[in-house]
Amino acid sequence: MADNIDFILKRRSIRIFEARPVEEGKITTLLQAGMAAPSAMNSQPWEFVVVTEESILQRLRAAMEYGKMVAPLVIVPLGSPKVASNFSAETFWVQDCVAAVENILIAAANIDLGAVWVGVYPRQRRMAAVREILNIPADTFPLCLLHIGYPAEQKPPHTKYKPQRVHWQLYESTRRYTKKPIHHMIDKIIKKA
Ligand SMILES: Cc1cc2nc3c(=O)[nH]c(=O)nc-3n(C[C@H](O)[C@H](O)[C@H](O)COP(=O)(O)O)c2cc1C
Repeated sequence: MADNIDFILKRRSIRIFEARPVEEGKITTLLQAGMAAPSAMNSQPWEFVVVTEESILQRLRAAMEYGKMVAPLVIVPLGSPKVASNFSAETFWVQDCVAAVENILIAAANIDLGAVWVGVYPRQRRMAAVREILNIPADTFPLCLLHIGYPAEQKPPHTKYKPQRVHWQLYESTRRYTKKPIHHMIDKIIKKA
């Protein structure tokens, strides 16, 4: 690859961690990366819960069907309209917070940490469980859990680049796709959008 984007490609989902804790300085670095993200009208509609206490980590693990990883640190990004600096958070808080999440994941990979994103929002049952465990009020939205720690598994850098996913200038509707589309899913997404 001509330009060096290894700092992005090295971000992989790491699900096995060493037991040693993540230093407080590194946790602050991750949060600084998160809060460097762009947000609509710079509204910054985010707060974060940092969990390092084993009893709380255990409760989160127990509650999440797909989040059983044993990590010494979980960061929970929250959509928080009440701290947002303007009304754009109403429309864009998810995108704003996702930008912060990706910054945290890329930063983690570049300070020798591994991390994995565990989906919470918009699954109501998962949100309710996380709210209950972390004491999060109804006006504040847990987006996901980020399990973070020193990696105990190695994964090579990768991209999922597929040139056939790219349209140049205009969308080419006649293009043939090899995978059969899931029509009922597409209909549902169109209705919601
Ligand atoms: C919205 C979202 C939700 C995810 N939820 C989970 C999850 O609950 N458990 C998990 O192990 N990985 C989860 N992942 C991680 C994906 O499985 C992972 O990104 C994907 O397999 C690609 O691997 P890579 O991150 O190494 O490129 C999630 C990722 C995203 C973006």
